[in-house]
Amino acid sequence: MQQNKRPMKELTNSQTIVKVQTTHQHYPIHIGQSLDTIGLLIDYLCHASKHNTRHAGRHNTRHAGRQAVLHIICDKMVYQHYGQAMEAGLTNANITYHLHHVPLIGEKAKSIAIYEQMLEKILASGIDRSHVIAAWGGGVVGDLAGFIAGTILRGVRLIQIPTTLLAQVDSSVGGKTGINMQAGKNLVGVFYQPEMVLIDCRFLASLPTRQLQAGYAEIAKYGLINDAAFFDWLQESGKRLLARDADALLYAIETSCRMKAAIVNQDEREAGIRAWLNLGHSFGHGLEKLAGYDGDILLHGEAVAIGIGMAFDYAEQIGKCKSGTAQIVKAHFTDLGMVMNPHQLALKVALNADNLLEAMRYDKKNYDESFTLILPQKIGKVEVVTGIDASTLHRYLSVILDIRL
Ligand code: GLY
Repeated sequence: MQQNKRPMKELTNSQTIVKVQTTHQHYPIHIGQSLDTIGLLIDYLCHASKHNTRHAGRHNTRHAGRQAVLHIICDKMVYQHYGQAMEAGLTNANITYHLHHVPLIGEKAKSIAIYEQMLEKILASGIDRSHVIAAWGGGVVGDLAGFIAGTILRGVRLIQIPTTLLAQVDSSVGGKTGINMQAGKNLVGVFYQPEMVLIDCRFLASLPTRQLQAGYAEIAKYGLINDAAFFDWLQESGKRLLARDADALLYAIETSCRMKAAIVNQDEREAGIRAWLNLGHSFGHGLEKLAGYDGDILLHGEAVAIGIGMAFDYAEQIGKCKSGTAQIVKAHFTDLGMVMNPHQLALKVALNADNLLEAMRYDKKNYDESFTLILPQKIGKVEVVTGIDASTLHRYLSVILDIRL
């Protein structure tokens, strides 16, 4: 896949637009330090029909010329830091808005109960089909708000305003939405593309380092699945990025968004290469389930990092990947202060092949009672491996859970 990279210095203080172009929709991802979020929102709300293909008939006719009402589904911490500025901007611009705070922080908010609570609240505030939902927060808020936008009144327009690194490089782009169930992670949801993604790196200033590291795992994933040169760059620049160097962050965010957009453009519904983006996720989702979706124990991105290490270990064990590759990948994450040994997690159960296999069972990629894994052939190349039976997976889980760094 051809990546259109730009030199870092060009990015400083500029705004980049990456385009997502699926079969039925196209939308911009605005990336930049100088992004004027409020200004773009105003422009969007006042000229909605120009951007809107999914709802083209509806907005070009019935709602044309009307300024839409905004429903902001918002993370409490984000509101604490940036709420005043956002509200002042919206008020100054004469935008009618409703703020709906998500009552819980972390994966626990992606539940049926919170989904229902939020729906009732938004309906009570008088939403109609001309209104727009904005997801303002990290991946959890984006997934939950996206599912709400895709289902309320059979779908209203959606803007993603991601505030964590993970959401900026992965979850806000591509239209995956959903909530977690007892049986597993993200098992209920819809594909529902936003009409705009607004990435303002200034939100990262207040992000805890742990969250930054979690987002880094998804950035490294892009290099590992499809771009060895980008992984080389990360090996040189990862520390600078985690020290919040603006140029390094912008370059990594833009490269990630370009790759995500290119993959989603080819395979919106994950019939093929979009599954690559799940490198490390089958193992990671299993660990998150064993952690009870408790972000104090394990964040999604942390689970992905450990899962990536396990995928490389697994691939080496079955001879798919050259011996020593897993060590390079795991050493990179460890060097950046990330936990790679799943036994170090404060899980409430003693981790073993039995409980991890069980926790991995309900994954959307699995079918016919067999497992599907995304496994690396080398750094920069992965493949989708289907039809792995439970006893084979169990055997190799026992082996890789015994590997120590
Ligand atoms: N986060 C993986 C995907 O969007 O497909």
